[in-house]
Amino acid sequence: MRIPQADEKKIYQLILDLANPALREQALLELSKKREQFDDLALILWHAYGVMAILLQEITNVYPILTPDAFTTAVSNRVCNALALLQCVASHNETRGLLLNAHIPLYLYPFLNSTFKPKPFEYLRLTSLGVIGALVKNDNPEVIQFLLSTEIIPLCLRIMETGSELSKTVAIFIIQKILMDDVGLAYICQTYERFYAVTTVLNNMVIAIVETQAVRLLKHIIRCYLRLSDNPRAREALRQCLPDALRDASFSEALKDDGPTKRCLAQLLVNLSDNVVAVS
Ligand code: TRP
Repeated sequence: MRIPQADEKKIYQLILDLANPALREQALLELSKKREQFDDLALILWHAYGVMAILLQEITNVYPILTPDAFTTAVSNRVCNALALLQCVASHNETRGLLLNAHIPLYLYPFLNSTFKPKPFEYLRLTSLGVIGALVKNDNPEVIQFLLSTEIIPLCLRIMETGSELSKTVAIFIIQKILMDDVGLAYICQTYERFYAVTTVLNNMVIAIVETQAVRLLKHIIRCYLRLSDNPRAREALRQCLPDALRDASFSEALKDDGPTKRCLAQLLVNLSDNVVAVS
């Protein structure tokens, strides 16, 4: 995208401002607002002297104050603006791999691991999930390998159990992307404990959605089950443990205008039906 020269100058000024403690908070805010207008902001952030170190510093500065008294809305907004810039770096094809090789996403795990309920924490978890969501968007096996080896799955599962609806949606999106990857599917189906941990959370979500009719979540859940059914052992286990609500008409109203999801559900039930007899 072409941007007027004046704006470009402004961006470079803001990058310089980051190095000044008195101007940093405002610069984080303004840069995070501009990130959609300027395609190559990620390249500037990554290559400009000291910027990544500054973003890491913003992140680690809040580790000691992740308590309900100290972690106020203003503190949360500030670190979330830094995370928004990290998300920009995670989204760009030329910087994603660099971010990964530097293991920077690991710095977000303490945020994902926090369980405090107040809004500033919820916002922090959602924004952190957004960075991981940006990493998995392009179906890159290296991203999946990184996430598996750093054990992000239990963190996502807990957010799927306890988070806000928005956080749950991003967390299940990440799980879905992991499942779509062949290595990811094999990893989750490798032990019964892993399979059981994932399907228990999915099953509980289905039961909750019978009440809330949160269709957006349901779409992801159905695609996760469908993908699990590609694995022979998982398919056997799902025959026993797929929630009834997916077999009866509980969601026929909610899904009535969503052809693709209805077809996924029908395919899932076909995959699980055991009355397919091989004729010799
Ligand atoms: N160390 C655990 C394992 O490898 C990590 C884990 C916990 C996990 N819960 C999970 C992995 C659920 C996959 C699914 O099993």
